[in-house]
Amino acid sequence: MEIIIQQNKQTASVAAARVVARLVREKPDAVLGLATGSTPLPLYAELIRMHREEGLDFSAVTTFNLDEYVGLEKEHEQSYHSFMWQNFFSHININPDKINIPDGMTTDVPACCAAYEQAIINAGGIDLQILGIGSDGHIGFNEPTSSFASRTRIKTLTQKVPRHCITMGIGTIMAARSSIMLAFGEGKTEAIAAMVEGPVAAMVPASILQHHPNAKVFIDDAAAAQLKRADYYRWVYAGKPDWQQDA
Ligand code: GLP
Repeated sequence: MEIIIQQNKQTASVAAARVVARLVREKPDAVLGLATGSTPLPLYAELIRMHREEGLDFSAVTTFNLDEYVGLEKEHEQSYHSFMWQNFFSHININPDKINIPDGMTTDVPACCAAYEQAIINAGGIDLQILGIGSDGHIGFNEPTSSFASRTRIKTLTQKVPRHCITMGIGTIMAARSSIMLAFGEGKTEAIAAMVEGPVAAMVPASILQHHPNAKVFIDDAAAAQLKRADYYRWVYAGKPDWQQDA
């Protein structure tokens, strides 16, 4: 894992957006895995700015979202469909036919999940997966004890309404060719310490990223507060050769 510590979520998100933008410029038909939650909002805002001001072109990009609530219509204000359109898709030139989000209203959940996995394969696999992290270390909606081999499936949420969701599995997430994790603020400090420096364990689903060949973790000073080797990670990032920037 590459740990990138920035002063605040704005600078961290701009740095993360540059990685996404470099991929999209080099591979205009890139396949992006997208996340919801408050964490990626500044990243999406920066990508929208790059689209408007620098012509960053999303017309050939395909996207797959991590998850969706079961039982919510796409139009429901709490659905992840609504979230993505409101905060990202309506502000860029993405082709709506290339947007994929699990269907929370499906009448056949297993078939819907299998089709989602197949669609990812048909698209050529995910080039870059964007991730947030829950304060308990979950990714997507893979709560603690989720199987590291899991694929897209239904999960029961811990004390949330709605009660069920469809989420990419940890195995699905790990199959992405690269991944970007974002985490900001004190609420994520323990989860980040456990994920980065703790043992790989199903109780901390995000810790599996220690096994990912190309995972970057963009965090602010607050989220980095319990990292024992924070100075080393800062030193490494500051010394990156030019050709490796944003890659
Ligand atoms: C939900 C989402 C995750 C997200 C997490 C943290 O569980 N399914 O993808 O990472 O919330 O949300 P936030 O970024 O708002 O802290």
